[in-house]
Amino acid sequence: MKILILGARGNLGQQLVKVFSIDNNVIAWDMTDVDITDKNLVDKKINDLKPEVVINAAAYNAVDKCEINDEEYDLAKKINIDGPKFLAEAALNVKAILIHYSTDYVFSGNEEGGYREDDLPNPVNRYGKTKFHGEKKIIELSGNDLKWYLIRTSKLFGPKGESEMTKQSFFDIMLEQSKNKQNLEVVNEELSCFTYTPDLAKATRELVDKNYGYGIYHIINNNACTWYEAALELFKFVGINIKIIPVSSEKFNRSAKRPKYSVLLNTKFPLLRGYGEALRDFINFID
Ligand SMILES: NC(=O)c1ccc[n+]([C@@H]2O[C@H](COP(=O)([O-])OP(=O)(O)OC[C@H]3O[C@@H](n4cnc5c(N)ncnc54)[C@H](OP(=O)(O)O)[C@@H]3O)[C@@H](O)[C@H]2O)c1
Repeated sequence: MKILILGARGNLGQQLVKVFSIDNNVIAWDMTDVDITDKNLVDKKINDLKPEVVINAAAYNAVDKCEINDEEYDLAKKINIDGPKFLAEAALNVKAILIHYSTDYVFSGNEEGGYREDDLPNPVNRYGKTKFHGEKKIIELSGNDLKWYLIRTSKLFGPKGESEMTKQSFFDIMLEQSKNKQNLEVVNEELSCFTYTPDLAKATRELVDKNYGYGIYHIINNNACTWYEAALELFKFVGINIKIIPVSSEKFNRSAKRPKYSVLLNTKFPLLRGYGEALRDFINFID
């Protein structure tokens, strides 16, 4: 199959390129190949290429930056709303399947029981709003016969992407901070699921290869936890003796509000392994 991957130098994009390249013709584009906010260019390049699958791993992910800076918010809207809209229109034109990623931050986080694929989003920050409106642009086109998978995921970690825009994962930040601190304060709230990018990339391929029905999927590693619980797991595994102090979210002065409970419930796809097992693979990889 001819598969186009956008955001190919990002955290997830790189893993998608790896996983889909086995027995497929993968075309990997970053922003220098096509800016997804440029409708004419997106239309032209996708029409020339005629891929069978378009995978969009490109996104604006600076949650706090866009909350306080209006210019950044405009950029986030362009990348996270216009981008998927233009890609969906272009995919429809060439009858390609579109795969797009969204986030647990589309939910308010007031439901302790977690969120199913068909629950109604109600984001509490600007980033979440842009991702929700991006989702809507794709869903709107399903009436026009767009073939689409919308995958919500959360707390990505894995080998770091090459892109300058790429977000540092929580585990990388913890390991870096542990080098020059005796104790670390970590938020013991915001319950949600970590997701290992190689696992998510494999699951994405399975959706396509096994012809799962089009629609929304929640794909995350199993075993929801807080940031604090994940830090304990990390340092226990790597054998670093550091004191981890649980604190509330208010302790850190972050611009954007976070959902308190944003556990994504996966009711449509085989459950992925626990994040602890994936974390061990990740640590062995960076060692
Ligand atoms: N990171 C998380 O914890 C997290 C959590 C939930 C959901 N998600 C979602 O998962 C997906 C993948 O996230 P990620 O963390 O892998 O992203 P990432 O590492 O930040 O990579 C983003 C990519 O987007 C590309 N990009 C940005 N603006 C672009 C534009 N205008 N045109 C074309 N490409 C553009 C960048 O390209 P260049 O290489 O050219 O700069 C970069 O490769 C996103 O949809 C994100 O919202 C992520």
